Formats: sequence, structure tokens, C-alpha cells
Amino acid sequence: MIHGGAGALANVDDDKTAVRYLDSIHRILEYGREVLELGSSALQAVETCASLLEDDPIFNAGCGSVLNEFGKVEMDAAIMDGRDLAAGAVAAVESIANPIQLARFVMTESEHVMLISEGAMHFADHCGIKRTPIDYFYTPERLAQFNEARANKKIMLDHDDTQAGSEDQKYGTIGAVARDLKGNLAAATSTGGIVNKRMGRVGDSPIVGAGVYADNETCAVSATGYGEDFMRSVFAKTISDFIYMKGMDAESATQAGIEYLQRKIKGRGGAIVVDKQGRCAKGFTTKKMIHGWIEHGGKSMVGF
Ligand code: GLY
Repeated sequence: MIHGGAGALANVDDDKTAVRYLDSIHRILEYGREVLELGSSALQAVETCASLLEDDPIFNAGCGSVLNEFGKVEMDAAIMDGRDLAAGAVAAVESIANPIQLARFVMTESEHVMLISEGAMHFADHCGIKRTPIDYFYTPERLAQFNEARANKKIMLDHDDTQAGSEDQKYGTIGAVARDLKGNLAAATSTGGIVNKRMGRVGDSPIVGAGVYADNETCAVSATGYGEDFMRSVFAKTISDFIYMKGMDAESATQAGIEYLQRKIKGRGGAIVVDKQGRCAKGFTTKKMIHGWIEHGGKSMVGF
């Protein structure tokens, strides 16, 4: 399963834009299928799919990342292996084309779970990951979005509680969850965060248990939405706990997680989930969520 963000997504009412999103989701899903059918691990599949989503500028991650209050890109990402709960994460990184790949290096090549900002980029140099020129991240759409916000003095207003996280906002994040032929689970989440966020703000995406979680005994989860809500509700782990504690399947655990998010804090966003039996589920409190899935090797399904 993969997702490309949640929100009001008014732009997908335009057929051309909708087709552009769905084509990309479909292409990346099919790529993920091939990776898994060739016998690669769930971990490899989620890293590959997340990297492809990061490479497509229509999604808010990697090269399509939104800009912060100073017009800069600061990206967060995390990856988790359900076999042993190994995890790697990076936060507030720039000049890295695929933060999800750096997150995997943190998991495999360091003794830590999360590295941030300059330290993470120093570690990228150490791992041989090349810095990407900053121009790569400044897509015309993101610059226009930022300039419009500046012209309307929305930068400050967007930090106001009543406006931050309004339903009009697209909570862009990308994510992937997978179960491989051996029954192993993995999850990956990556994002540019929220438009006009304060410099140094870190969302849920790189936080294990909030925006990402994977445990072979339960499920793999990737969330998308207003990060602060998912951090406060420990959203991804909550869904996993419904399976671990109550023996639910992916569908009922996801709905229980969404109900908890909504009831406790009116949380905004959603998640994709695959459980240990390979059952897929999705849930969201926003109007839409861009997503797609292939269950038990069947036909690929895409939608909002
Ligand atoms: N869910 C993405 C973020 O809040 O940064």
C-alpha cells in the first residue's frame, strides 16, 4: 500500500490533476509489486516505493517538498522493519534527494534511531550520499504556493491555531507499507512537512509510533496528516496495539484508531495499514487521502 497525502484535496476535482496523481500511484504500486514478486524484502519494497514518491514533484516529500516560513525545505523521514523493530529516522534535513534512503542508513549504519539537521547531513556525507543542489527542490508550484502565502501575509496567520491545519490545507506526506513473501512487514514515511511551518518544526513522519510503525506480530502503518495530532495520539502504535491487545484485523484496528484520533483530539489525517495476514486497510478523517493498494497479489486499486 502507498499513500500521497490527505486533506481537502480540492485540486483533484479537476480531472487532469486527479489522473496525474492516480497514474503516479498506480505506476509506483506496480513497481512495488515487481520488487516483492522478485523476492525482495518488505523493507526494500517500502524504501523503493517511498523513494519513487519522493522523486515525483507532485507529492510533498523529496523534490516536491513544501517550504517553511523562511522559504527553505526541511524534510523528515523514517523507515521501520517489522522483523526486529529496527528503525531509522531523519528530521529537518535539506539537500538530500531521498531522505528515506538516509533514514535506512541511520537504521543500518549507526547505533541510533534518529539524526537531525546538520548532524544527519554530516552522516549522509559519511555514508557517501551526495548532496543535491537546492534548486532541485524549488519546484514552480512550491515557489508559487510560498509566494502567495507571503503576499497574503499567511505566513504568520498560518501559525495561528485556528488556521494551522485547516481542512483547506493538503497534509502532504508520502508513505508505503508492505508484507513480503516471507510474511515480514515494513513501513516508510517521508515528508516536507506543513507549508509555512516554523523552522525546526518536526512532524510525526519521523517519529516511531506516531507517523510510522511496523511489527511482524501486528501490522505496518504509515500515517499522513497534521503531524502534531499524530504525535499527541501516538497514532501508528495505537493502531498496532488494537491488533496486539484486542486481536483485531487491519480493517477494524484502522477504524478503531481513526475513531480514537477523532474522538480524543479531532485529529486530521489518515493511515494505510497492512496486517500480518496481508490484509489491507485505510482510514482518514479528512475529506480525501491519495492512496493505492494491492492485496494478496490481486489487482492494483487506487483512489482518493
Ligand atoms: N504528517 C506530516 C507532518 O505533519 O509533517
